[in-house]
Amino acid sequence: MKIAFFNFFFFFCLLQSCTCDDTIMRTRSMRDGDVIFSEGKRFAFGFFSLGVSNLRYVGIWYAQVSEQTVVWVANRDSPMNDTSGVIRFSSSGNLCIYASVNTTEPLWSTNVTESIPEPTLVARLSALGNLVLLDSVTGKGYWESFDHPTDSSLPFMRLGFTRKDGLDRVLTSWKSPGDPASGTFSLRINRTGFPQLILYKGLTPWWRTGSWTGLRWSGVVFQILFVNNQDEVSMTNRVMDASVITRMMVNETGKVQRLTWSAGEKRWNVFWSIPKEECDNYAHRGLNGYCRPTSSEACTCLPGFEPKMPRDWLLRDYTGGCSRRNKTSLCREKEGFVKFTHAKIPDTSVARVDMNITLKECKQRCLRNCSCLAYASAYHEGVGGEKGCLTWHGDMLDTRSLLNSGQDFYIRVDREELERWNKNGSLGKRRAIIIVISLIAALMLLAVISFCFVRKRRKSNRDRRSSTTLPPGSFDISDTFRFEEDQGGREWELPLFELNTIATATNNFDFRNKLGEGGFGSVYKGVLENGMEIAVKRLSKNSGQGMEAFKNEVKLISKLQHRNLVRMLGCCVESEEKMLVYEYLPNKSLDYFIFHEEQRVELDWPKRMEIICGIARGILYLHQDSRLRIIHRDLKASNVLLDNEMIPKIADFGMARIFGGKQIRGSTNRVVGTYGYMSPEYAMEGHFSVKSDVYSFGVLILEIITGKKNSAFHKESLNLVGQIWDLWNKGEATAVIDKLMNQDINDESEVMKCVHIGLLCVQENASDRPDMPSVVSMFGHNANDFPPPKHPAFTSGRKPHVKNDDLSGENSTSVNDVTLTDVYGR
Ligand SMILES: *[C@@H]1O[C@H](CO)[C@@H](O)[C@H](O)[C@H]1NC(C)=O
Ligand SMILES: *[C@@H]1O[C@H](CO)[C@@H](O)[C@H](O)[C@H]1NC(C)=O
Ligand SMILES: *[C@@H]1O[C@H](CO)[C@@H](O)[C@H](O)[C@H]1NC(C)=O
Ligand SMILES: *[C@@H]1O[C@H](CO)[C@@H](O)[C@H](O)[C@H]1NC(C)=O
Ligand SMILES: *[C@@H]1O[C@H](CO)[C@@H](O)[C@H](O)[C@H]1NC(C)=O
Ligand SMILES: *[C@@H]1O[C@H](CO)[C@@H](O)[C@H](O)[C@H]1NC(C)=O
Ligand SMILES: *[C@@H]1O[C@H](CO)[C@@H](O)[C@H](O)[C@H]1NC(C)=O
Ligand SMILES: *[C@@H]1O[C@H](CO)[C@@H](O)[C@H](O)[C@H]1NC(C)=O
Repeated sequence: MKIAFFNFFFFFCLLQSCTCDDTIMRTRSMRDGDVIFSEGKRFAFGFFSLGVSNLRYVGIWYAQVSEQTVVWVANRDSPMNDTSGVIRFSSSGNLCIYASVNTTEPLWSTNVTESIPEPTLVARLSALGNLVLLDSVTGKGYWESFDHPTDSSLPFMRLGFTRKDGLDRVLTSWKSPGDPASGTFSLRINRTGFPQLILYKGLTPWWRTGSWTGLRWSGVVFQILFVNNQDEVSMTNRVMDASVITRMMVNETGKVQRLTWSAGEKRWNVFWSIPKEECDNYAHRGLNGYCRPTSSEACTCLPGFEPKMPRDWLLRDYTGGCSRRNKTSLCREKEGFVKFTHAKIPDTSVARVDMNITLKECKQRCLRNCSCLAYASAYHEGVGGEKGCLTWHGDMLDTRSLLNSGQDFYIRVDREELERWNKNGSLGKRRAIIIVISLIAALMLLAVISFCFVRKRRKSNRDRRSSTTLPPGSFDISDTFRFEEDQGGREWELPLFELNTIATATNNFDFRNKLGEGGFGSVYKGVLENGMEIAVKRLSKNSGQGMEAFKNEVKLISKLQHRNLVRMLGCCVESEEKMLVYEYLPNKSLDYFIFHEEQRVELDWPKRMEIICGIARGILYLHQDSRLRIIHRDLKASNVLLDNEMIPKIADFGMARIFGGKQIRGSTNRVVGTYGYMSPEYAMEGHFSVKSDVYSFGVLILEIITGKKNSAFHKESLNLVGQIWDLWNKGEATAVIDKLMNQDINDESEVMKCVHIGLLCVQENASDRPDMPSVVSMFGHNANDFPPPKHPAFTSGRKPHVKNDDLSGENSTSVNDVTLTDVYGR
């Protein structure tokens, strides 16, 4: 096969008469038709035309993508009109494009002014798609295309400003799909005030990110690095797995889009696009307005403000904005702040910034200064993640509410306004108290009525009950629903916990009680008043479901009972909070054991085998044996907990259902999951099925056997799955077995059988992977009966290495650097 490929390539070279390299030497030139490829052949650089046009451009495109996709154009504003163009170095050492061999005036030039050592100079197309002008001896770079983007941002490319070269990297849309000339839309980081990413139409802001916050796609496909210090204000998209083909672009129609290439469907999938709705438009509500996409029009001024031209508002013209209701009332006694949650804070270009003070100090500072009208934190990463202080001292623009993200925003109001808001608040409180009181009364009544009845029944039911699945030493409410269950087999009622109970149990969600954080929210440890230990999952607020649907799902899922599943004890739904309460397992999760040497020693082979089988049975139950048929979607070592007897228990199952996904096979825009464990069809196309769980399980098996993590990035060129596959093909797969359990393996073939099963589970093609019933039965069969595994997915975990162009920003960490998973406000 290798020979065939080589032949093909040789043929290709003859055809193209190129250097077949990623490099243009100082002495060579490129004619129209010549192409160079990056290492790995993902990107190509050369001449091209668009559509039916005869105009010739020079640029970079994806070589492996069947649809012509240009990511960079050198001479976007000065095309050639025939194929006589030439690329070569000028006498000054710049790479230039000439209209023909005989012209001396270049159409385009890299325009480097510093003196370049000519003879050793080359231009090289890096594996990331970056054309770099560099000294091939010293490696010093002089110019790179990543610093001069057109309309697309590739992974590891920086957007924004660096002081050392004074460059501001801006994305500018094309004029039209057939014309790469500079269009009207541009995306840039504006450094005025507090930096923000703004999409401009011409010079007019069109859309704004808001604060650097949000948790979407947390660590799944992208990581966004935001650097804000003296020397640099920039953002860089990083992709967690080099095999994913993805880009961000400014579309000529004024959309910022993120796309991934689906090799299966042979098309680009847009999985994120902005602006999307009216409220996204910059300053849609004018000065001091407040845009709320979900509410009626009535309430679209910030508190303390009223529409300046109420008539226009009736005609849906909001450009007049809002003005202060009482111009003299601020900076008097008893004033205060109204808090907006989930807000996109106003344009920060007019905000004052102090990164050194806390939010509390920020409030004090704002109160002390009569011109201060509002404040917020500069960065906001979840609860307690506030950092820095922003204050506004004049009119505020482009404030809106967001559904799931956004941050707290505090606006100064006078006594009257504050009273108005407090009255609303206390009204709510009073109502809540009334409801609580009547609930208590009802419960007491119920208790009294049922007391005698229960007593009568209890005796006769005692034996039966001793075998119920409820935890020993259960809590108050459980008696209520046990009682209900006794009432002639009624539906299993889901125990509802009160927010107060949970808050007390977790010490108000103290960060010291935090056990972890996942795609769905944070997990806290808690202790109920009766001493029972619980784990509380506080769901992030982006569950698309209403309360009833949520409760129904939780009720269904809480009925799933299996030795290898973590038991759900109940839930808590109050105000905006949705929480799930689970049994607490003290022995930590599987990743703690298998990825740490001291702990891993405790796991001999028989124990590991039991763990593997336990997990398999748990998944089988979810897929097949329970009434619900559940796809886990985020199986990984940290989602397998171990109890005192080292029995594995799968956590976090049913999350996809709770979050509104009902299908067995489906397609989703919201890819949850963790890189290293995600099947290719799920990671890249959002298709999930039972086979995506099988894939994750295969990775788990291999991790348990080797004691190594199948991380997306690996020092060597292959990730764990790739290494095992390599050794397997060489017949040396026994080398992967964790050395720490060598002495307790009697029968190596049993371990090899598990490796075999693992490899079958991670096969690239979902239909080749066995389903869970087959997997479970395989453990009881001879490996000779198994089919040989085919090529697994995602074998190259290689981090795209960057020569001479350190774009990853890793070495630029400083006090002000903040790594965020996503910068967008929505
Ligand atoms: C095409 O090239 C010819 C010869 O260089 C030039 O005279 C003409 O202006 C060019 N046309 C366009 C549209 O650039
Ligand atoms: C370039 O110049 C050479 C000699 O002056 C001439 O023979 C050739 O035709 C010219 N080529 C073009 C494309 O103009
Ligand atoms: C290079 O510099 C020249 C002269 O300053 C300018 O006209 C041209 O637009 C520059 N080209 C690029 C690609 O920046
Ligand atoms: C821009 O978006 C529109 C609408 O989604 C689409 O038709 C067009 O092809 C996009 N342009 C590019 C260059 O992708
Ligand atoms: C940044 O925003 C401010 C205020 O809107 C504006 O005056 C300035 O020109 C912008 N800067 C850039 C580089 O766009
Ligand atoms: C404005 O506020 C001041 C001070 O609170 C108050 O005396 C005055 O009556 C208010 N004016 C109006 C029009 O509400
Ligand atoms: C900010 O805080 C740091 C550390 O607390 C301190 O070293 C620095 O001087 C402070 N800067 C300002 C401007 O107050
Ligand atoms: C209030 O804040 C403004 C803007 O930061 C500043 O110019 C002014 O000096 C401050 N006033 C006081 C009294 O601190």
